Amino acid sequence: MTTLVDETTVISEEDINSFKIVAKNTNRVFRIRRPGEGKHDFTALYDINLKVREGEFLTMVGPSGCGKSTFLDIMAGLSVPTSGEIYIDGRRIVGPDLNRGIVLQGYALFPWRTVRKNIEYGLEVKKVPRGERRAISDRYIELVDLKGFEESYPHELSGGMKQRVAIARALAFDPEVLLMDEPFAAVDAQTRETLQDELLRIWEETHKTIIFITHSIEEAVFLADRVAVMSTNPGTIKCFVNVNLPRPRRISDVRNSSDFNWITGKVWRLLHGDGDSETKSDAPRGPSAGSGFDSAGL
Ligand SMILES: Nc1ncnc2c1ncn2[C@@H]1O[C@H](COP(=O)(O)OP(=O)(O)OP(=O)(O)O)[C@@H](O)[C@H]1O
Ligand SMILES: [Mg+2]
Repeated sequence: MTTLVDETTVISEEDINSFKIVAKNTNRVFRIRRPGEGKHDFTALYDINLKVREGEFLTMVGPSGCGKSTFLDIMAGLSVPTSGEIYIDGRRIVGPDLNRGIVLQGYALFPWRTVRKNIEYGLEVKKVPRGERRAISDRYIELVDLKGFEESYPHELSGGMKQRVAIARALAFDPEVLLMDEPFAAVDAQTRETLQDELLRIWEETHKTIIFITHSIEEAVFLADRVAVMSTNPGTIKCFVNVNLPRPRRISDVRNSSDFNWITGKVWRLLHGDGDSETKSDAPRGPSAGSGFDSAGL
């Protein structure tokens, strides 16, 4: 079987231009104050090295506090690394840009805007003419299955619907890269599965490069081409697990397959410090394997 786990990533100068996203020796240090300790430096992110192919779906899992959101914020251009750099299409990230769409856990929709107006927001910023905006928002409303709700306001929608608006809004201005930080954490398990299937369908249709953070091992494996497994103290990428499950994937087909369960078990063991076993036959399954979604228990 092909190598499942890549322990290291070496970044060359050529990689910066040939990969969609490259993070090179990225560090983030916060100056913090702890009771009784005074001020000191806290390394939230340590030496992140990452290469993401154009059109790749990369998921990131890791314990709470390992720096996932800190990393995504830097990717989004909302904060800067203390050292190191991140490139998209060979250009260094220096701030927010419409080449990146962001979907966060808390929906972050504009409550005073309708579904259509939320989806058209980035297009307005880009000064896309009204008629064109309308055609684009129609397309994305259909893509996320919200036809009939164009004129509804966020408070009139369910959690899953709001999250679909957030995805449509992030996609509508045609970003190159979609950055998602636990986007489905606030919805119920059944809606989450629907959204996962929909996200994969949209990704298959739009060929975006996606970085998706989650606490759920099953979600990470189901969606990804590759899972970046993070560890804490200091927060860094411990290794990458290649997910060679066939595509297109649908959760109902995948969840009971032995390969899926084996890979989720592998990620579980890596997260819990026991990832040495490489072969399928001798690898014991982790407790999360086969136990359904939302059971990662990180
Ligand atoms: N602005 C800040 N100032 C000081 N410390 C910070 C700041 N932002 C984050 N941290 C610290 O950096 C570490 C990483 O935080 P981060 O939010 O990236 O974790 P996370 O992996 O996203 O966690 P979770 O899974 O709980 O969302 C934490 O210890 C946090 O306290
Ligand atoms: Mg976070």
